[in-house]
Amino acid sequence: MEEEGRRGIVLTVFSTASAVGKTLIAINMAAELTREGYRVAIADMDLQFGDVTNYLALPHEKTLFDAQKAASENVDAFDVKEFLTPYYYKNWTFHVLPAPDKLEEAYNIQTKAATHILSEIQYNFDFVVVDTTSAFSELNLALMDMSTIITFLGIVDFIPTIKNMKIGCDTIRSLGYENNKVRLVLNRSNSKTKIDLEDVEALLGESFYHVLPNAFEPAKDSIEKGIPLVYTSDNGLSQDLKALVRKYTNREAEEGFGENGGGWFSKLFKS
Ligand SMILES: Nc1ncnc2c1ncn2[C@@H]1O[C@H](COP(=O)(O)OP(=O)(O)O)[C@@H](O)[C@H]1O
Ligand SMILES: [Mg+2]
Repeated sequence: MEEEGRRGIVLTVFSTASAVGKTLIAINMAAELTREGYRVAIADMDLQFGDVTNYLALPHEKTLFDAQKAASENVDAFDVKEFLTPYYYKNWTFHVLPAPDKLEEAYNIQTKAATHILSEIQYNFDFVVVDTTSAFSELNLALMDMSTIITFLGIVDFIPTIKNMKIGCDTIRSLGYENNKVRLVLNRSNSKTKIDLEDVEALLGESFYHVLPNAFEPAKDSIEKGIPLVYTSDNGLSQDLKALVRKYTNREAEEGFGENGGGWFSKLFKS
């Protein structure tokens, strides 16, 4: 177990509704960060219904459950790298911590163990992307505390989804995180809806940091093939996913066309 050293940046994807694209986006963030040259891991913290290995068509032998077991048996000998499954595409590789395979294993994951394992991953990677469930659970709150950035993902389809997004925004604000820790991102924009984005932003009291388009076929195709969109396709969704990651890594600011010129993110890297 390493005690010292730089800790990787934790990017958590969260939402208050399910099936809004958290897993798809988390995977593409991990893939794109890898393409940018960073050392990347993705941790599937959707304990009961984790889909990361499914969406990547990635066979795996070990999961978070095995990691928890090993860490509880001998914390000093615990090496989190033994529990990660590499995903290869061309000459890019990122590492996956799969969610438990069985429901009873999921029930037995302790928040303290999960956060300990996540912090061990942080010592070995530049970025750790965390996929979650849509709930203000004990685990998700602990993961959000550990996060550098929370991508709070929403879709604008029906009134109840928007109401839940509003509750989510207000709840996250009440946690007292610094302003730029939480980024509101809209997914599946331009799907058939009559709801005006500006009305939604007014309700939420915040504008969207980034907007991702609806792209049903490419999203479906990427999941069926088990290959992240950013690796294979150059459609609007893929381009906008890349742009989101570039905003997070501040490449845009470095290249002189972003408004985020302060470079707070690069400062984190230099620490
Ligand atoms: N921008 C998008 N355009 C079209 N389909 C999308 C988009 N984002 C996600 N999807 C699809 O929506 C479904 C749910 O996505 P998923 O990532 O599993 O959501 P969550 O993890 O929030 O439950 C998947 O079938 C996925 O392909
Ligand atoms: Mg999911």
